[in-house]
Amino acid sequence: MTTAAPPVSSSSSQPPAEAPTVQVISTHEAEKSQPTSVTACQMSQNVLATPRGAEAPSPSVYLSKRGNSIRQHQGTLQEGFVQYAANKYHVTDNPEGIINLGTSENKLCYDLLHARLTRPDMLYVEPSLLQYSDWTGRTFLREEVAKFLTHYCGSPKTLNADNVVVMNGCGSLFSCVAAVICDPKDAILIPTPFYGVITDDVDLYSDVKLFHVHLDCEVTIKDYRAFHLTVEKLEEGLTKAKQEVAVILMNPHNPLAEIYTPEEMIAFLEFAKRNDLHAIVDELYMLTVFDESVTFHSVLSLDSLPDPLRTHVMWGLSKDFAMSGIRAGTLYTENRELVEALAQLGCFHGIPGTVQHQVAQLLQDRAWIDNEFLPENRRRLKAAHSFLTGELRSMGIPFLDRPAALFVWADLREYLQESSFQEELNLWRCFLRHNVLLSCGQAFSCSTPGWFRIVFADQHLHLGGLTDLHQAAAWTHPS
Ligand SMILES: Cc1ncc(COP(=O)(O)O)c(C=O)c1O
Repeated sequence: MTTAAPPVSSSSSQPPAEAPTVQVISTHEAEKSQPTSVTACQMSQNVLATPRGAEAPSPSVYLSKRGNSIRQHQGTLQEGFVQYAANKYHVTDNPEGIINLGTSENKLCYDLLHARLTRPDMLYVEPSLLQYSDWTGRTFLREEVAKFLTHYCGSPKTLNADNVVVMNGCGSLFSCVAAVICDPKDAILIPTPFYGVITDDVDLYSDVKLFHVHLDCEVTIKDYRAFHLTVEKLEEGLTKAKQEVAVILMNPHNPLAEIYTPEEMIAFLEFAKRNDLHAIVDELYMLTVFDESVTFHSVLSLDSLPDPLRTHVMWGLSKDFAMSGIRAGTLYTENRELVEALAQLGCFHGIPGTVQHQVAQLLQDRAWIDNEFLPENRRRLKAAHSFLTGELRSMGIPFLDRPAALFVWADLREYLQESSFQEELNLWRCFLRHNVLLSCGQAFSCSTPGWFRIVFADQHLHLGGLTDLHQAAAWTHPS
C-alpha cells in the first residue's frame, strides 16, 4: 500500500478555483493577505462543541446531575490522553506503545531543565514556604513574574506585582476568570479552531459557554490566509451572539500557531472595548517562536491598552519553559476588583510554596534563560519543526507553516472517505489503533472536518512516529 498524496500547489501563485483550499502558507505570505468575509455562527452544541470520544458511561446514582454531567464530559483530547498514559511508547521498554503527537508539550529540553532545576539554589525550605499564604501567589513570586513580563513582553512601563495572579496553570485561570466575570449561561466569544480544553475550563464549574466564531479554512483570491481572524468576523459573530461578556484571543495561536501583529491585536482589543467585552489574551507561547526573522509582540508592549480594566493577559511555564507538570500560570490585569475576586478562588488553585520558590529562581536567572535555555530550545524546536514539515511535504500533506508553538495544523482531508466529523473521528481512531495519538479538528471546534494538530516537540518524532503516521495514513487510504 502506498500513501495517496493530496495535490499541493506552489504557495507563491494564486490557487485556481479547483485547487486544494489550503496550501503550505508561509508567514510572509500571510502578512500580505487581505481580510475577507467569514461565516460566523453559533456552534450547534452537538458533536463539534464537546466531542465525546468513547461512549458516555451511564449516569451514576451516587452523583448529582452536575456530577454526572462532569463525569460524562470527556472529549477526544482526554480519551486519547488516557489511552496514551496507559500505554506510552518507550524506545526499549515499550516500543509498541503509543507515540504522543497529540498533547501540546515540549519534550525536547529535559536535559537543560534537569541541570537547572537540580542546582543548589532550587532546594530551599524556610518556615513561610510551608505555611498558608497569599492566594494570588507569594509576593516574591509575583514580583519576579512582574519583572519577567516587563522584560520579555517589552512593556514600556514597569509592571506591578500587585496586578499579577499566579495559579496552578492557565486552565485554572480560565476557569476562575470565567467564574468571576460571567454568570451561569453567559458566553465568551472565541474564534475557532481553538485549544478545545477551554470549553471545559469555563464550563465545568461555572456553566459558562463559548460562542464560536468560525474561521474559514478556504483561501480565496482576496484572502490567502487560511483561518484568517479579522475584526469583521468578530463583529459578525457578536451580532449573532447573546449575553457575551468577553472574547478570548490567543497569540501565538493554538492550534494554528498564527502570530498576530500588534496592529491586529490593537484592532481586536478596540473591538472588545467598543462592545464592552473583557479581552482575555492568552500569550502562553510567547517565547516559543523559533525563527529569528519573526518577532512576537505582546499586548503588554503597547504604550497603552484600549481598555486596561477589561484586558487580562495570561502566560505560564507549561509551554515556554517546557514544564507543564510544574503547574504554574500567571495573569496580568490592572483590574484590582478582578484580582480581589480571583484571590477568593485562589485557595483552590494554589501552587506549593517550595515550587513557587523554584519558579521564582528560574524566572530571575536571566543568564540561564537568555544564554542557555532560550537559544537551545529555539534551535531544537526549529529542527523538530523542519523535520515534521519536511515529512509532511514528502507525504503531500498541506499544512500551515508558522514558526511558532509546538505543533503544526495539518490538512488531512484527503484521507477522509467523505467530509464528515464522524469520518474525522474514524481517522483519529485509526491513527490511535496504529499507536499514533494526534488531535483532530473537532476537538478544537474546527468547522471543517479533516484538520489535525500534530505536535513536533518530541524526540520520538525522530524515532519513528512519523513512519507510523505514514503507515496509518496509508492504511486509511489504500491506493
Ligand atoms: C493556548 C493554551 N492556553 C492554556 C493552556 C493551559 O495551560 P496550563 O498548562 O498552564 O494549564 C494551554 C495548554 O495546552 C494552551 O495551549
